[in-house]
Amino acid sequence: IMPVRIAPSILSADFANLGEEVRAIDAAGCDWIHVDVMDGHFVPNITIGPMVVKALRPHTTKPFDVHLMISPIDAYLDAFAEAGADILTVHPEAGPHLHRTVQRIKGLGKKAGVSLNPATPAKMLDYVLEDIDLVLVMSVNPGFGGQSFITSQLRKIEAIRKAIDKTGKPIALEVDGGIDTTTARQAIDAGADVLVAGTATFRGGPSAYAANIAALRGD
Ligand code: DX5
Ligand code: ZN
Repeated sequence: IMPVRIAPSILSADFANLGEEVRAIDAAGCDWIHVDVMDGHFVPNITIGPMVVKALRPHTTKPFDVHLMISPIDAYLDAFAEAGADILTVHPEAGPHLHRTVQRIKGLGKKAGVSLNPATPAKMLDYVLEDIDLVLVMSVNPGFGGQSFITSQLRKIEAIRKAIDKTGKPIALEVDGGIDTTTARQAIDAGADVLVAGTATFRGGPSAYAANIAALRGD
């Protein structure tokens, strides 16, 4: 049985107190810090850029799992790597050459992830899976926190789990969007081993974070 990792999305944190929020989820036992980067072009919302990632870096030693919802993608990879990202995850639709983008991320010494929107098929991974460290299945359309889990994505998670196991490589399978204690269990049963959770982590404020994270883990 695989240990499940929890990656709180700071999209649901108090943006006026981000450093404190990151320290609080670290202390509450999260595994990674999920950073949602949105450009108002690839997705209909604008969030944060490399300067904020850099400012947050001294507040935790846990991995920064940076989800890039920006297009064109290649021009910003260096900046996020320098800012202290550990994992850089990109969408195939965000640039013309996914394989090249993955090579660039690896060339920067970072872990590379590929994220699939709800309508994007698992077969987009066929010729890149062996080269990446993480697959991120979007279980909502990217852009906003607090949306409902799209159940059809469970089938995609199952298919990707099989493909990952076939490679024999330790590729993480992460799910993002609409994760609560119920959908967390469904995603884990389908083969996910990393859960992103914004709303479900941050609800109730700092005193609730540890219990929220434990509940998502199924403890
Ligand atoms: C959506 C983001 C998600 C989002 C998840 O574009 O990629 O990480 O913050 O939020 P919840 O957990 O509230 O669905
Ligand atoms: Zn995300």
